[in-house]
Amino acid sequence: MTDSPDLGYRAAANAALAQIMRRRSADILAIESSCDETSAAVVRDGRTILSLKIASQIDIHVRYGGVVPEIASRMHMEAIDALVDAAVDEAGTTLCDVSAIAVTVGPGLVGALLVGVSHAKAMAWALRKPLVGVHHIEGHIASNYIAHPDLVPPFLCLIVSGGHTLLADVTDYGRYRVLGSTRDDAAGEAFDKGARILGLPYPGGVQIDRLARQGDPAAFDFPRAKLGEDALDFSFSGVKTALMQFVRKQPEGFAQEHIHDLAASYQQAIVDALVDRTAAACRAGGRSTVVLAGGVAANSRLRECLANALPTGTVLRYPPVSLCADNAAMIASAAWYRLMEGETAGLDINASPGLPFAET
Ligand code: KG4
Ligand code: ZN
Repeated sequence: MTDSPDLGYRAAANAALAQIMRRRSADILAIESSCDETSAAVVRDGRTILSLKIASQIDIHVRYGGVVPEIASRMHMEAIDALVDAAVDEAGTTLCDVSAIAVTVGPGLVGALLVGVSHAKAMAWALRKPLVGVHHIEGHIASNYIAHPDLVPPFLCLIVSGGHTLLADVTDYGRYRVLGSTRDDAAGEAFDKGARILGLPYPGGVQIDRLARQGDPAAFDFPRAKLGEDALDFSFSGVKTALMQFVRKQPEGFAQEHIHDLAASYQQAIVDALVDRTAAACRAGGRSTVVLAGGVAANSRLRECLANALPTGTVLRYPPVSLCADNAAMIASAAWYRLMEGETAGLDINASPGLPFAET
């Protein structure tokens, strides 16, 4: 009798999964390569980082004013081997001793995702380890499980990144109800496009945050889109267009001269919309904990304004700035909760650039 076409992989991975579920413990090696950061990490039981390595490509993409997909894929390929080795070394373990392999399957840039997914599949197959495919947004949410060991669902979560803006009711680990989302640009995209209009380098969110600290948020009045009385959706394309038209009408040098006030006022328009919908969802849903996730969760004004707007007694949580951006530790954490449900992927999983959130 010959082995099945996967040469016994499925049976070996299932046996390893059964052992993890019995022990309720796992050191998960995860890879994240959805955009312009290659990252590898080992995380114990979804909550404790044993190692985290991140190779950022920003220094290269900044020359082009944004992420160039082909360059991103190539740089992921150059970085991934050494990064995985370094993460395993730093964790004080070996590839043979990690319990499972996790990887971001989407959404993101297809070529960039493929590098991580192919690498993870090859490792899982060679090592006979369970493989877990993770939705990038689920990873961002899980970064809070690492940052706050006492955080447990249910909670309300505002996910704000370069590609997504979502308000979700997190009813359990890996279980979500989407309450609102953006109808056009994501919040991070609005920050990046606004920064570009103001002549600031990519990625613009962090630049606007920094410059806004010395500016007046009421100096200029930019629109806050409201999409119906009770709507929890967002729209950021209008505020970006308003900034562009305003700057165009001004004399040359105006944006540079008023950069602090422009950054502060533009940022405030984005923050007000995010805070308005999140506070409304919190009041309506009655959750006592609100969580921020994604790259824009690093924004200091968003953190401050949301803390002031939430109903008394509501707890606000967000990851440290280092875990707001894309990283593999958050992917390992999300994978842990999938593994505990006995969920693993087959070797046929593929990169899914447009993976919808609800599908996971
Ligand atoms: O989550 P992330 O690292 O990548 C995606 O999944 O998209 O988010 C990146 C986004 C970028 O748009 C970046 O400008 C924004 O997060 N960002 C910020 C700040 N730090 C990063 N936006 C506002 N304020 C910040 N401090
Ligand atoms: Zn992200």
